[in-house]
Amino acid sequence: MSAPIHILGISAFYHDSAACLLRDGEIVAAAQEERFTRKKGDAAFPARAIDYCLKAGGIAASDLAFVGFYDKPILKFERILETYLGVAPAGFRSFLAAGPLWVKDKLHMDRQLRDALGFTGAVLYGEHHGSHAASAFFPSPFEEAAILTMDGVGEWATASFGVGRGNAIELLKELRWPDSLGLLYSAFTYYTGFKVNSAEYKVMGLAPYGEPKYVDVIYRELLDLAEDGSFRMNQRYFDYLSGLRMTSPAFDRLFGGPPRVPESKLSQREMDLARSVQEVCEEIMLRMARTVHRETGQENLCLAGGVALNCVGNGRLLREGPFKRLWIQPAAGDAGGALGVAQLVWHRHLGRPRAVEAGKDAMRGAYLGPEFAPEEIERELRAAGAVYRRLERDELHARVAELLAQEKVVGWFDGRMEFGPRALGSRSILGDPRSPAMQARINLKIKFREGFRPFAPSVLEEKVGDWFELDRASPYMLLVAQVKRERQIPMTSGQRALWGLDKLNVPRSDIPAVTHVDYSARVQTVSRETNPAYYDLIRAFERRTGCPVLVNTSFNVRGEPIVCTPRDAYRCFMRTQIDHLVVGPFLLDRADQPPFAEPPAAQGGPQDVSASESRRFALPVGGAFLVLGSALLWRGRPGAAAAVAVLGAALLAAGLLIPRKLGPLRRLWMSFASVISRVTTPVFMAVVYFLVFTPAGLVMRLFGHRPLGERRAGRSRWVGRESGAASDMERQF
Ligand SMILES: [Fe+2]
Repeated sequence: MSAPIHILGISAFYHDSAACLLRDGEIVAAAQEERFTRKKGDAAFPARAIDYCLKAGGIAASDLAFVGFYDKPILKFERILETYLGVAPAGFRSFLAAGPLWVKDKLHMDRQLRDALGFTGAVLYGEHHGSHAASAFFPSPFEEAAILTMDGVGEWATASFGVGRGNAIELLKELRWPDSLGLLYSAFTYYTGFKVNSAEYKVMGLAPYGEPKYVDVIYRELLDLAEDGSFRMNQRYFDYLSGLRMTSPAFDRLFGGPPRVPESKLSQREMDLARSVQEVCEEIMLRMARTVHRETGQENLCLAGGVALNCVGNGRLLREGPFKRLWIQPAAGDAGGALGVAQLVWHRHLGRPRAVEAGKDAMRGAYLGPEFAPEEIERELRAAGAVYRRLERDELHARVAELLAQEKVVGWFDGRMEFGPRALGSRSILGDPRSPAMQARINLKIKFREGFRPFAPSVLEEKVGDWFELDRASPYMLLVAQVKRERQIPMTSGQRALWGLDKLNVPRSDIPAVTHVDYSARVQTVSRETNPAYYDLIRAFERRTGCPVLVNTSFNVRGEPIVCTPRDAYRCFMRTQIDHLVVGPFLLDRADQPPFAEPPAAQGGPQDVSASESRRFALPVGGAFLVLGSALLWRGRPGAAAAVAVLGAALLAAGLLIPRKLGPLRRLWMSFASVISRVTTPVFMAVVYFLVFTPAGLVMRLFGHRPLGERRAGRSRWVGRESGAASDMERQF
């Protein structure tokens, strides 16, 4: 039997870095870097996620056959340069912020990957939307399906569609920068005072409190929307091409004032804006889906890209869209690109076949992250000074069901961590959905988050139709459906007249903690097959109460990533008002715990410097000293020349023979260089921008070249794509 082929997929350097490991095409492990580094949406190179994936696969980096990167850096760089050519002399501040990062890091992806991993094999590159499309189709339960991807932007594409058949994907058309549904939504996220690229779901949660007052203004001023779902954005109102903000002063004037200051009180304006952009987003999603259906003739649709996390829009696609079945990649954002590119390497580059198990996807419930054996958990709990009890499985479930029925809030940590932004019953905070006080309690005392957002329900898969207007599984919490009509409590006319957030306190169904003000719920169905422990717990709760539904919210506090290790879970438990904690087979009661002392912050000691980094410092600097020595000799200063040459030769020799020993010297040099570059970089960048880019851009525009595309009103903006060859993955462009 031949040795298995291991492929590592990586997504990094923009937001939510991640890694994924495939063994002979099967997903072994996948995780986001933020969970390990505890920095929300960490965009750094995912060294720790990679480390976890390799450990989970029981291999070293040298065992990898291929490393796949989720986008094409040079193509992306081209888009950025063309953007500056299109807007210069505006855009300098953005150029100054982005340029050095590109020159220093992003254009040297190949070297960075090899240095970080010590990997000498083939590094392959997928197109950004190709990686999203692969993550949507390859793990889906369909032999054949249409694919639609929508996000902020990849290289040039902001949305794309095509067809997946067997082991092949063909993307037919794309929508291009700067017209982007993701960025349109992010502009409103920014303007309503939330964090771009991570808090779009808050805008979606706020929408039901508002009225769609601004829909007409959006269509009239911001968008030129074609019948086929493609559109052109009026860049007068946006600032993301040339500035560091999402919206321009014209946007402020249009919507009656500056953006809401983050954390300040929400007003009706923000709610109406949220409702309006949500309606526009849903309309665009529906039009795009109809176009995709018409052009592909498929019955199934696969979705990925950040916009596919808009579960309200997904719910409408399911109810009103032309497709019979929908499958959405649970890690639909850029983290999922790591999984997508790894599968592209397997199916596209290597041409390996794809096997589909009827009716089943290949995501294993998205439980692809780290898990901990009871002995490990106990060790960590003991080290944290925790007081705990170990229970047998049935006893544990019965006891936790009892606690939940008493309206206790329980931190639930069990099995493998979820991949993607949702907690699906492995790293969750649980509560009783029947309790009218539960929503406010968890929101304010435990998660320290804005009180307006409802919680999601986890429901036994076979019971979903008894509680929600949904006739199918929704294992990844990516579909919104109405609470079953007979369970809804109609609002009185007085309650309907309540202003915005006051509506929150009116119970709207017999499971009020998970029912939004418009009677919707973000449903997760739980099957015994993918998460037996969580399923059994909900069954135990049903036996105790007659209700097969639990409140499920992610196990974290506001601003922090979801917990990863038992230690993270204990820390979060002790920092909040969570009543009980379950970690594997152990049950903890808050009342039993000793006072909690915050662990000391990690000391930022000197980082280990790799041999190749040291070499890259020592060889050019040593060489420069030798050149300087020659110059001094030529100028007739032999003493100084000899001293400088000896220094240069010593640096060269040390760089070749003992590079790691040069760590402290390199750090000293880097501190010196960083002070110098803080002064010289802006000057150099200004010279490049105003003396090279600006005249070049002006001349190009004068001769009719439109770096940012044609501006034709009322016509389709979909652009045809060439299918390309499998060997394309070898190139960064
Ligand atoms: Fe993306």
